[in-house]
Amino acid sequence: MISNSDPTDLTLSLVSPIVLPSLFKEGTPLKLGIMASGNGSNFEAIAEAIASKQLNARIQVLVYNNPGIKAAARAERWGVAAVLLNHREYKRREDLDAAIVETLRQYEVEWIVMAGWMRIVTPVLIDAFPDRIVNIHPSLLPSFKGVRAVEQALDAGVKITGCTVHLVCPEVDSGLILVQAAVPVLPDDTPETLHSRIQVQEHRILPQALAQLAVGMVRSKRD
Ligand code: GAR
Repeated sequence: MISNSDPTDLTLSLVSPIVLPSLFKEGTPLKLGIMASGNGSNFEAIAEAIASKQLNARIQVLVYNNPGIKAAARAERWGVAAVLLNHREYKRREDLDAAIVETLRQYEVEWIVMAGWMRIVTPVLIDAFPDRIVNIHPSLLPSFKGVRAVEQALDAGVKITGCTVHLVCPEVDSGLILVQAAVPVLPDDTPETLHSRIQVQEHRILPQALAQLAVGMVRSKRD
């Protein structure tokens, strides 16, 4: 069940109202391609949601850009194909994105999840999968776009931040917002402590957003 109903949890009372009893439906699974640059805890959350039947999807492939990252080891553990496309080997962002598109097509991917993908993507990728790319970002967009979102929130002195799942459009960290979760900033927070609490929420709302897509609750302009 993709919901969390602990009424004492402050973060949850601030969460998007889209909390449903169950979003799982039998039928054709979403064919996902996941892109990651680092730890891959969001990859893991998606894999777990699929394994526990909270999400009707299949991870066709993981594309990663940094050799030796934990995300690749996680993919191996889950028996998911992992393809390294090292951005350092491509002259232009567009060239990397063309290689990504080719790989994703090869693995018959229908929906892309940028789960900690730390590169700016170009229209080469976005136009190949129009309104089919989902990103997770560690702030309540439209606040704190770009890199170091958690540090930006601390520097700004906000009392509440959070995370956002949204569709990707050419403007960085913009595009249709699917689900958000709020996380209070505590007085002694460091970027690490705050980010780790944000990640707890990310691991909940990213599978939730994908489940909404899987059952057709979210319709893009092109549907
Ligand atoms: C996540 O917190 C995600 O929101 C962030 O990277 C982390 C990846 O964690 N993404 C961005 O900052 C994108 N601008 P993970 O590798 O453990 O899933």
